Amino acid sequence: MAFDPSKENPFKPCRCFCQKRKRYKTATLAMLGGILIVLLVIGVVLGMTLTHNDKELKMIHIIMRHGKRTPADTFPTDPHINDTLYPIGWGQLTNDGKEQVFEAGKFLRKRYDAFLSDHYLPDEYYSQSTDVDRTKASLQLVNAGLWPPNSRQTWGPLKWQAIPVYAEPLTQDMLLLVRKPCPAYHIERDLVVASEEIQAKLNASRGLFEAMTNYTGRPVEDFDDVMDVYSTLKAEDGFNLTLPDWTKEYYPDKMLEPTIFSFVLNAWNDKMNRFKGGLLLKKMIGDWQSKAKGTISPPARKAFLYGGHDSTIVNLMRTLKVWDSQMPEYGITVLLELSKTSSGIYGVEIFLRNSTSVPPFKLTIPGCDSFCPLDQLVDLTRNVIPENWDEECKSNGTYEVPEAGQP
Ligand SMILES: *[C@@H]1O[C@H](CO)[C@@H](O)[C@H](O)[C@H]1NC(C)=O
Ligand SMILES: *[C@@H]1O[C@H](CO)[C@@H](O)[C@H](O)[C@H]1NC(C)=O
Ligand SMILES: *[C@@H]1O[C@H](CO)[C@@H](O)[C@H](O)[C@H]1NC(C)=O
Ligand SMILES: *[C@@H]1O[C@H](CO)[C@@H](O)[C@H](O)[C@H]1NC(C)=O
Ligand SMILES: *[C@@H]1O[C@H](CO)[C@@H](O)[C@H](O)[C@H]1NC(C)=O
Ligand SMILES: *[C@@H]1O[C@H](CO)[C@@H](O)[C@H](O)[C@H]1NC(C)=O
Repeated sequence: MAFDPSKENPFKPCRCFCQKRKRYKTATLAMLGGILIVLLVIGVVLGMTLTHNDKELKMIHIIMRHGKRTPADTFPTDPHINDTLYPIGWGQLTNDGKEQVFEAGKFLRKRYDAFLSDHYLPDEYYSQSTDVDRTKASLQLVNAGLWPPNSRQTWGPLKWQAIPVYAEPLTQDMLLLVRKPCPAYHIERDLVVASEEIQAKLNASRGLFEAMTNYTGRPVEDFDDVMDVYSTLKAEDGFNLTLPDWTKEYYPDKMLEPTIFSFVLNAWNDKMNRFKGGLLLKKMIGDWQSKAKGTISPPARKAFLYGGHDSTIVNLMRTLKVWDSQMPEYGITVLLELSKTSSGIYGVEIFLRNSTSVPPFKLTIPGCDSFCPLDQLVDLTRNVIPENWDEECKSNGTYEVPEAGQP
């Protein structure tokens, strides 16, 4: 507030004096206010740093989908059905995809640089892929970005070192694709599909299914079928192959929602999630608990990288009830961070990296804080953790499990 001397009456000193006092009072108040605000800001910043520093990162699990790929499947009227996609081949990582996952590795190095050693140590870090070429290739490139050799590990002309990537045969995969036959899963899925809710959704999409059956020359009868065709078109489009004219009306817009829904439907409820995402979650809970107890083996283990597919991501996220329906794009990554507070509480934070242009999104398990104490997390997920997967999967009839297609 500017002081206007012309408004002062020199013949009324008292008033003048009073006004001056008021002025000083205002100035003092403003100064005090300013100091308070500064103190407040310092307090907030300090508080944030303290809460931040209050936790110490103890272990990370990184779960990601492979990078951009060539089409893995086709349909009878596909103009590219006879392409060899030389020299890459079908269902393989493209050059764009290689760059994408290498960048993901560099992102991880940046994010966890203070946590991980600056050089690769086999006891500290473990990477496992599904037994599928594009995923194994992806993980090798993530590792290249994450673990460039330091001076002691440099062995020759490449700024690269060989890092093992484990994989279980598809038929025995009990973690990332879970393709071992499980009748109880399919029986439950059939019940869900037969429900009024899903039948109504199927009915509403009948027009799309019929048109797509007509155009693709293959039966398109449900959301999974739409997803199959969508994935093929997406891969062809991303590889600069020309899509047939009919797709203009359907791809991507009309096919996107049914595709997104197909992933959700396959991880619809706790009973289904117990058989799929529940296994990976059970594995991680085991790791978290043994880290907290100090029994983890090897004792230096700090980080796991798991490479899987679109369904790997959605199944895990639906199991944790943190999936916002969206397309699980190439390279989508879930970060699960176990830390310990200064008061000795272990807890987990979950982040979703679904974009390279914004930081990962922090997600919150319903019923928990975004830093979810381990004990509470275990309680909240009890329903989705299989106790004896093989026993629980058994059907008491002669249910025949549908054959799994190509991953
Ligand atoms: C693919 O090859 C088959 C068998 O040779 C042939 O009948 C068909 O016309 C070819 N399709 C296209 C789109 O080239
Ligand atoms: C779906 O369509 C079928 C066949 O037209 C019909 O019998 C059924 O009642 C419909 N279901 C729902 C839930 O809309
Ligand atoms: C079926 O496909 C043909 C071309 O292959 C097209 O002319 C026709 O309109 C399609 N019918 C429907 C119902 O989509
Ligand atoms: C596809 O075309 C775009 C734009 O011209 C280019 O940047 C990209 O490298 C191409 N991708 C492939 C696989 O040829
Ligand atoms: C990425 O994930 C966040 C959290 O689930 C979601 O809010 C956001 O819409 C997603 N972004 C895209 C592009 O799907
Ligand atoms: C058959 O399975 C159902 C559920 O899957 C279960 O409730 C029932 O007890 C089982 N019956 C027998 C005879 O095992």
